Amino acid sequence: MILQRRNRILRQSASIRALVAENRLTPDDFIAPLFIEDGTGLATEIPSMKGYYRYSLDKTIEEVKLLWSLGIKSVLIFVKSPDHLKDNTGKEAWNPDGIMQRSIKAIKDAVPEMVVMTDVALDPYSSYGHDGIVKDGEILNDETVEALVKMSLSHAAAGVDFLAPSDMMDGRIGAIRSALEQNGYTRTGILSYSAKYASCFYGPFRDALDSAPGFGDKKTYQMNYANRVEAVKETLMDIEEGADIVMVKPAMAYLDIIREIKNAVQVPVSVYHVSGEYAMIKAAAERGWIDENKAIIESLTSIKRAGADLIATYFAKDAAKLLQQ
Ligand code: PBG
Repeated sequence: MILQRRNRILRQSASIRALVAENRLTPDDFIAPLFIEDGTGLATEIPSMKGYYRYSLDKTIEEVKLLWSLGIKSVLIFVKSPDHLKDNTGKEAWNPDGIMQRSIKAIKDAVPEMVVMTDVALDPYSSYGHDGIVKDGEILNDETVEALVKMSLSHAAAGVDFLAPSDMMDGRIGAIRSALEQNGYTRTGILSYSAKYASCFYGPFRDALDSAPGFGDKKTYQMNYANRVEAVKETLMDIEEGADIVMVKPAMAYLDIIREIKNAVQVPVSVYHVSGEYAMIKAAAERGWIDENKAIIESLTSIKRAGADLIATYFAKDAAKLLQQ
């Protein structure tokens, strides 16, 4: 054959492939989620998340130092609240001495340059396991936003770098931004979970925090996975209300949404590779059905290729290690 173009020329060796690679993962891309609970010396493996642990604060600090040494620059923290502190107001969420507030301070003290992000939603504190205040079986929007503002201010007072509201209530980004302004927190950022879908892939996470909804589901606040245009609407509104970084969640079943958002906005786009996505790779690898390390790097690269500037992933540590090899 006499061909004008031979595309395989650019694939013929590892060196050439590296030269022309369009995307490259680095630990700078990663946000490492951390599950924290009260106590000392605790490392509890999450049954549906093999190899992933919920730590007490002392162990969390060790983990944060390890993550930092691997080049990871951000952690996203979630706490498990004991049942006796859960109610329908979520008031433990803004306790200045709560496990969340103590964790923020301890991490910033131990590794000041680590960017600390916190989940802002009521579910770990709610006796109903919902992200908001419940009345007659409904999740109240405006009352919940008031609670989220109190929660956000308490995280800001503890020194958080970015608040990450994950609740999908209307108007919460604007309310949190103006409360931050009114209280002089001009350096606190907002990473909004702007396009968060009602997804079955959050199952293992709810095991980790014992936060599964006690009744119904989250479809009246999280988005319908049949929708694409709505993701753009939600995200543009959050940016207008003051979000510094936006998010698409989950990741791999939503790569089209990531690209859509990336093309529509001028702020960094983060993507949450969620607990169920972690669990699926772990489960298949455990059976020898896929190569775990290759699946990790291929998955994260595809998320980046789709348009993610930042990726929250339970594989952050593994991927950072793999990238060093
Ligand atoms: C809390 C929250 C959830 C996740 C992040 N923040 C659970 C939910 O919305 O039910 C899920 C993360 C994961 O599955 O890894 N609002």
